[in-house]
Amino acid sequence: MFNATIDPMTDPQSPRPGSGWTVVVAVSSVVAVMAIVGTWFVLSQQRRQVPDDVPAPTEEYGRRLIAQTSWLIGPDNPDPERRFMNSRLNCGSCHLDTGMQPGMLSLTESFTKYPRFSGRDGKEADLKERIDGCMERSMNGRKLPRDGVEMNAMVAYIRSLNDRWVATSPALRVVLEPPALRTPARAASLENGEKVFESRCRVCHGGDGLGMLASQDPRRGYVFPPLWGDDSFNNGAGMGRVLTAARFIKARMPFGRPDLTDDEAFDVAAYINSKPRPQMSASRLEQDYPDRSTKPVDSPYGPYADPFPAEQHRFGPFAPIEAFYKKK
Ligand code: HEC
Ligand code: HEC
Repeated sequence: MFNATIDPMTDPQSPRPGSGWTVVVAVSSVVAVMAIVGTWFVLSQQRRQVPDDVPAPTEEYGRRLIAQTSWLIGPDNPDPERRFMNSRLNCGSCHLDTGMQPGMLSLTESFTKYPRFSGRDGKEADLKERIDGCMERSMNGRKLPRDGVEMNAMVAYIRSLNDRWVATSPALRVVLEPPALRTPARAASLENGEKVFESRCRVCHGGDGLGMLASQDPRRGYVFPPLWGDDSFNNGAGMGRVLTAARFIKARMPFGRPDLTDDEAFDVAAYINSKPRPQMSASRLEQDYPDRSTKPVDSPYGPYADPFPAEQHRFGPFAPIEAFYKKK
């Protein structure tokens, strides 16, 4: 250890007769430097804190909520009041590119589509209610406070997407995806779905379909999101419907190279949805689609207004069910 003992007679810092000016200059430069450093420090702290830590109903916070939903309002948030969901997905896990990508599950035009009639709710629903639909089902969580910062920030962001979309010239509004899915006229094959999963999905979503965490800290969320299991969407979610999932998968998966045939997308969607996932309470699901004849043919949960077995609603074939409702 270095031990300095200061002798006031030899210490160069201690004042000596005749050095008064030197002291004044030295002290005032130290004060000036401290003031500059202090101001810089305070300003840089403010710059750091405003967008990061203080939630405000801004477009930017809304964008972060879509991209890092699990981090910001997920089950690992240190503040129990700010845990709004039980899955560890992000809105952007399905609404790719934070909803900016045109086409499948894009949020670019959502702002102008609401309020609109929702068959599931049996009434007109506005954008906030639609967001809560994904909160309760896709995120396996609960409703956001209707006028809270999170809800208002998401709406502000979705509005900004629409503003940008409107300002984009039609020539640039290109949807890059394969032709829409045509539903195969047969029941889905789970066996073939498993083969597709093994050869085309497993490399990212994991052999057990449980995804790949970004780090050991689950709060950091997933690099590749889980397709089933506790951290995934629940059985009341849109992605839990085999046709909705197949359309998404055909348009977007494998990520970066969506090239599945209709049959492959259909079978692998059924395979994913045959696996265990969080369940919404049956009494809650029973309230869906008060007019049962508007229930989508691929709704995996009853009750139904037709005589077809639940198994057929989950995996097809769908043509007979569609024909039944067309005749009515
Ligand atoms: C597991 C996938 C998934 C996740 C995660 C998800 N969504 Fe969705 N979302 C869907 C599907 C599927 C639909 C469309 C359902 C349908 O066909 O009507 C949808 C529809 C929507 C719509 C309506 C879009 C329109 O233009 O009609 C909004 C808004 C929305 N989601 C917002 C969110 C928000 C906000 C989050 C995060 C809190 C979120 N979603 C998380 C799958 C997901
Ligand atoms: C190259 C890696 C990769 C491959 C291969 C891949 N995915 Fe994905 N998948 C992703 C990523 C990344 C996301 C989320 C996108 C994001 O967060 O921006 C995703 C999201 C999803 C989602 C919506 C979110 C969820 O967890 O439910 C589904 C469903 C899905 N993939 C199914 C599939 C299926 C089925 C296959 C095989 C046909 C497949 N994926 C192959 C990377 C991949």
